[in-house]
Amino acid sequence: MRVLVTGGAGYIGSHTILELMAQGHDVCVLDNYSNASPEVLTRVRALSNGTIADFKGDIRDAKTLDDIMATFRPEAVIHFAGLKAVGESQEKPLHYYDVNVSGTLTLLHAMGRVGCRRIVFSSSATVYGEPDYLPCDEAHPTRPMSVYGRSKLMVEDILKDWAAAHPAASAVILRYFNPVGAHASTRIGEDPQDIPNNLMPYIAQVAVGKRDKLTIFGDDYDTADGTGLRDYIHVVDLARAHVAALDYAARKAGARPFNIGTGQSYSVKDMVAAFSRACGKDIPTVIAGRRSGDIAAIHADATRAKDELGWTASHTLDDMTASTWAWQSANPNGYDD
Ligand code: NAD
Ligand code: UD1
Repeated sequence: MRVLVTGGAGYIGSHTILELMAQGHDVCVLDNYSNASPEVLTRVRALSNGTIADFKGDIRDAKTLDDIMATFRPEAVIHFAGLKAVGESQEKPLHYYDVNVSGTLTLLHAMGRVGCRRIVFSSSATVYGEPDYLPCDEAHPTRPMSVYGRSKLMVEDILKDWAAAHPAASAVILRYFNPVGAHASTRIGEDPQDIPNNLMPYIAQVAVGKRDKLTIFGDDYDTADGTGLRDYIHVVDLARAHVAALDYAARKAGARPFNIGTGQSYSVKDMVAAFSRACGKDIPTVIAGRRSGDIAAIHADATRAKDELGWTASHTLDDMTASTWAWQSANPNGYDD
């Protein structure tokens, strides 16, 4: 299938392109490189030994999208392009709604002009907010607690209305839990531009000596060791979920959300211990107060993805930490190395 991958130079996009190409799909990337290095596609091309069409441009630019639609004529779109920092979204709400929501509208209009009616969308478990029950299934109420989370839910609603209005259209909404890890080649991985907001890249930077210690945000949660519990998912498993979602979109019309997680959760302290095992060093930590907006615990009920997409995660926690360490130690400065 010809697949347009928006945000394809990013962390999850780059891993997904490799899986798509391995399955024989033709890939075209649109990215504005606001949170990615052009080096990413050089490395992905070398790893895949294949051709990737690419356009530098903004998802909100209708002219660029029309050019891509005319030249590449995608049969499906995987839509990663967007902004994802929760704290920044509270400070710049209009910018987040513009990129994440208006960007998706611009994309859907451009797809419509060439009759492309299949989309796989990057949503997030953050749409659930504080869970009422665990594991969290797709029927769980949605009440996101940040601008970022609301922007994801707005797009989900738009996709449901779009699919309802076009009987042949298919929108596969993937609600990712906590993506971590890196490709086994050590050539691609997560490369935060600034101080990492997320746990795993922060631990990796402590392990490689770029930061002194990890601050644990709260050890007074109602969990076994007092620290937050999350469902971490290896990025290669997540990438494969997109390939499965594309196949599903070719078979089924309508808009449908799927949880993409392992169904297991680990605490912050579990993650620190697992990373220590992987890198053979102690990870210094300090306990601080809770981070605003954090929840105690969440993990996925991923039964729907198993039953309907035929997808399950196969990587273990040790795979996640070992691959993160292999990437970070081979590329201490990320794509600048
Ligand atoms: P990322 O920042 O690495 O990738 C996003 C890509 O989109 C980047 O390459 C960036 O340059 C590009 N981009 C941003 N704004 C753009 C614009 N206006 N026009 C064109 N390109 C633009 O992030 P990621 O971790 O790979 O996440 C991909 C998607 O998955 C995002 O939509 C994110 O919200 C969602 N998501 C990520 C996580 C996570 O933990 N990483 C969790 C849930 C959902
Ligand atoms: C965060 C976002 C979520 C987003 C997801 C992307 C918030 C409130 N939520 O989720 O919307 O979809 O990232 O992966 O920002 N932790 C520390 N020290 C750190 C960093 C994190 O103790 O330096 C803890 C957190 O308190 C949490 C766990 O580690 O218990 C995981 O944090 P993180 O990786 O930021 O993911 P989420 O908070 O689940």
